[in-house]
Amino acid sequence: MDGAAAAALLLLLFSLSAAPVRGQGSSQDAFIIQYLERRLAQMEERLSQCEQNIVSVTQKSYDLSSEVRGSLSTVSVLRSEVKSQVDSVSARVDRLERELEYLENKIPSQSDIEMEEALLEQQIKAAELDQLKKKATIRVQNDCSAALSQIKSVKIVKKVGDSLGCWFKDPTEGSEKVYLLSGIRNNSVLEFGSLQSFIERTTPEKVLKLPVDWQGSGHVVYNGFLYCHKADTPNQVLKVDLVNGTVVDSTLLPGAGRLPVYSLNPNTYLDLAVDELGLWVIHADPEYGGNLVITKLDKVSLAVEYTWDTQCRSRDAEGAFFICGTLYVVYNTRYGGRSTVQCLYDIHDTIHSNESPVMFFPKRYTSHSSIHYHPGDQQLYAWDDGYQTVYKVETRRNDQAAAE
Ligand SMILES: *[C@@H]1O[C@H](CO)[C@@H](O)[C@H](O)[C@H]1NC(C)=O
Ligand SMILES: *[C@@H]1O[C@H](CO)[C@@H](O)[C@H](O)[C@H]1NC(C)=O
Repeated sequence: MDGAAAAALLLLLFSLSAAPVRGQGSSQDAFIIQYLERRLAQMEERLSQCEQNIVSVTQKSYDLSSEVRGSLSTVSVLRSEVKSQVDSVSARVDRLERELEYLENKIPSQSDIEMEEALLEQQIKAAELDQLKKKATIRVQNDCSAALSQIKSVKIVKKVGDSLGCWFKDPTEGSEKVYLLSGIRNNSVLEFGSLQSFIERTTPEKVLKLPVDWQGSGHVVYNGFLYCHKADTPNQVLKVDLVNGTVVDSTLLPGAGRLPVYSLNPNTYLDLAVDELGLWVIHADPEYGGNLVITKLDKVSLAVEYTWDTQCRSRDAEGAFFICGTLYVVYNTRYGGRSTVQCLYDIHDTIHSNESPVMFFPKRYTSHSSIHYHPGDQQLYAWDDGYQTVYKVETRRNDQAAAE
């Protein structure tokens, strides 16, 4: 209610009350005053109602406007969200297009592929030729033509030591000494003067303690030196002087030590061998499908002379031995059984697995933890579940190698 309306109301009250008060009676005046007072009260009430309504309308309009403002901001958030999604989709489409373009450029045409295949074939041929040449070099240096034809008989010599281990007669010409390394890790090497003394004696003639442990069951002795795998290293070969046990040389065999050589002998990572041509190491290479890799080492310096990848697998193999530059790999089953030679690798390339029949070992129903060939005796020295056994083998002249 504003000032003008209030003034008009006062004026009306004044004119109504002033004139008739004197002309008519006081009771009539009182009645009019009462009436006016009632009307006044009614008007005041409506006035306050009006005021209340205005307040509530103002409140409502305020609420509404804030609601609208809130909605507006939500809408703008949504809009920016949609916009950023659209942007990211379009960026992805862009990237996809670029990648497609890049790939289209990368995919060579058919003729490129053929060229590469031809190149690869050429490289394989060159590598094969290289290997043949290496084989030829070895052949010139050494004359050796024996090939395994049969494993004739078995003789159990003794039962001593752990179920796993390694024993052999020193293959050096003129030496009679016998060595025994029991278990798969130790620093002891037992030496006997001869096979006879090994059979008869309960204690060795000499116990050699190395300054470090050997590991596995692939050791050899050659010319008064022990060659063994140093424990706790993946691929270190040691050369140890057997007179006083000093390590005189060592080498790391490239690529070796990631797989056991033979899957049935999980503790041996390097298997050493000696034959007519010298010192060998056999290992399994995971990069070559777990197949066996053979390395010819210089027995004096331990330098790597040559390396050959064979097609003989490590799976189900229990051991291997060398005769005259040919690797013979012995297989069995996990449950033990009759061992057989099923794969061979001739570095001269004159004997082939597929031409050679499977050769059976004489009946013995366990698996070997080590097998060593002795070129002078033409015998295999093997460790068969704690039994030291000897196999007599029959060799034939390999005419193809002899003819050249
Ligand atoms: C090491 O070898 C010796 C002789 O063979 C043996 O008495 C000893 O128990 C072996 N030590 C271990 C830890 O196998
Ligand atoms: C061990 O013996 C070899 C030869 O027998 C000798 O050259 C070397 O010096 C000896 N080493 C030690 C530490 O006695």
